[in-house]
Amino acid sequence: MKILVTGGAGFIGSNAVNFFLEKGFEVNVVDDLSRGFKELVNQKAEFFEGSFGDKKVLDKALKGVEAVIHFGAFALVEESVENPQKYFKNNVINSVVLLEEMRKKGINKMVFSSSCSVYGEPEKVPITESHLLNPVSPYGETKKAFEKILELYFHSFKMNSICLRYFNPFGPNELHKPETHAIPNFIKAVLRKEKISVFGDGNQIRDFFFVEDLIKAHFLALEKIDEFGFEVFNVGSGSGHSVNETINAVFELTGKKTEIQFLPERKGDPKKLIADTKKIQENLGWKPETEFKQGLKKTIGFFENLSKD
Ligand SMILES: NC(=O)c1ccc[n+]([C@@H]2O[C@H](COP(=O)([O-])OP(=O)(O)OC[C@H]3O[C@@H](n4cnc5c(N)ncnc54)[C@H](O)[C@@H]3O)[C@@H](O)[C@H]2O)c1
Repeated sequence: MKILVTGGAGFIGSNAVNFFLEKGFEVNVVDDLSRGFKELVNQKAEFFEGSFGDKKVLDKALKGVEAVIHFGAFALVEESVENPQKYFKNNVINSVVLLEEMRKKGINKMVFSSSCSVYGEPEKVPITESHLLNPVSPYGETKKAFEKILELYFHSFKMNSICLRYFNPFGPNELHKPETHAIPNFIKAVLRKEKISVFGDGNQIRDFFFVEDLIKAHFLALEKIDEFGFEVFNVGSGSGHSVNETINAVFELTGKKTEIQFLPERKGDPKKLIADTKKIQENLGWKPETEFKQGLKKTIGFFENLSKD
């Protein structure tokens, strides 16, 4: 089966490309390199540099493709607050261009990278898929809006899609600029012997889970997509780790320790985010397999290798 991976030069997309190639899929990648890195794209994939909102690029990249895994997006919450239009244009409008090109070509399967940011400040933890959708950032709104558009494309055009609402994935290839995620920032600071900055008291809990497990969820989603038509699933570990616990684990696994600087709490940062993962376990048979410290070890290995270059 041939698939198109959008955003395949980014953190999660590049890991997905490796996984699907190993499973024997043929993989096309579309990435405009606005946030990604060509070096992260497996050479066995066919790479199309350009936007998933560009029909000319899609005309080539969708040839022979049966399903699209849509990772491509802008994904910085703070930037989305500063420039909502940029986010709606890329994450929603450009994504609709992609859907339209798929529709014209009779491609009717999409697995979409949604986010726990669609829930906003949770009323109840663990968060189930039926929790109120109340995003607190334009970024979260773009994810909520595109989920709704996918639902509409299912009802109107029989385009099947599964939206995976990721909690806090981490792993190799996470090279966002700027990096706003805790784990890569902690690891890089420790390896460079720099201060670690923590917003708030470090007791906030996040549902960190390993990127390889996340990618497996896409594989299972793709296998069963036609049974579901349109569906949404949380993807997370279903348990949480505090920021302080995470830092201590990084200290332990690197054998290095640096100073921790506690900064004022960030507005709108929930105290606790944990996924209820019953739905994906029961429907897709997915559960995380990588133990937290084992995933951290692999991620540390990636950053150690980078710092040798
Ligand atoms: N990383 C997380 O913690 C997290 C959590 C929840 C959801 N997500 C979602 O998962 C997806 C992947 O996230 P990531 O962390 O790998 O981000 P990333 O920024 O590393 O990767 C996104 C990729 O999309 C590309 N891109 C952006 N706009 C494009 C366009 N118009 N055309 C072609 N390529 C384009 C970028 O160049 C980049 O390579 C995103 O949709 C993100 O919103 C990520």
